[in-house]
Amino acid sequence: MANLYDGKMAAIYDAMYQTFVDYDEEYAFYNKLIQENKASSILEIGSGTGNLAKRFDQNNQNYQGLDYSDDMIAIARQRNSNCSFTQGDMRDFKLENPVDAILITGRSTSYLITNNDMNRTFDSLHKNLNDDGVIIFDFIDANRFIPFTKENPIITHEAKYENVNYIRESHWDTNNSLENFMLEWTAQYYTLVDGKKEIIENDFSTVRVFTLNEIQLFLYLNNFDIIKTIDRKTYAYDTFVIVAKKRK
Ligand SMILES: C[S@@+](CC[C@H](N)C(=O)[O-])C[C@H]1O[C@@H](n2cnc3c(N)ncnc32)[C@H](O)[C@@H]1O
Repeated sequence: MANLYDGKMAAIYDAMYQTFVDYDEEYAFYNKLIQENKASSILEIGSGTGNLAKRFDQNNQNYQGLDYSDDMIAIARQRNSNCSFTQGDMRDFKLENPVDAILITGRSTSYLITNNDMNRTFDSLHKNLNDDGVIIFDFIDANRFIPFTKENPIITHEAKYENVNYIRESHWDTNNSLENFMLEWTAQYYTLVDGKKEIIENDFSTVRVFTLNEIQLFLYLNNFDIIKTIDRKTYAYDTFVIVAKKRK
């Protein structure tokens, strides 16, 4: 995971995701779940380049972000000078004070590729929540995503940001031999200049998609009770969003 979202990739990510994701809608979606659970202090994990942070800050909420990538955090800090962002790993972190809600947004759970990663993460979340605290997170649904990648060997996404046209071509290797339905994701990033593609970055990562049953079992084993399961389509993936309460 060492070079994940580092250097140039952080800036390319930020530019492209402004097109892919409607962050106003994303904020409204997550904030509704936070309000339903009367959570006043919020930690967002995988806070990325701080697009949700901006909305939480504009609404004067008690928000902090945590991300693994220093370069993503640098962009988030530039965007949100009032917000606190910490470099950390969701598998092992300790906040100064526990919070009422922890969000893991933007399918960042895909980077928890082993069962050990999952158990360590849920254990850390448990320890950093107040009593009656909730976790809210999404994950890519394996039952829908794996057939989709079989039927679409190259998946193209286009974005336009600050008058630059971007293209991302993704290939998801589902050779079925990897443990835990991990996938090898190769992505080529291009800019489109005078109708011609110019390569700007090649990226490779190993990611994991989950079945709903797996997630239910991980939560049970790590002392969380599911209170809501939402079937949600995002720009490229069918996901589930889970709201789960800390069991005492
Ligand atoms: C797909 S991006 C999502 C960013 C943001 N939530 C959004 O929707 O724009 C995934 C983020 O998860 C972060 N991440 C991956 N593994 C992590 C870990 N173990 N602990 C904390 N953050 C992690 C990456 O650095 C990256 O910023």
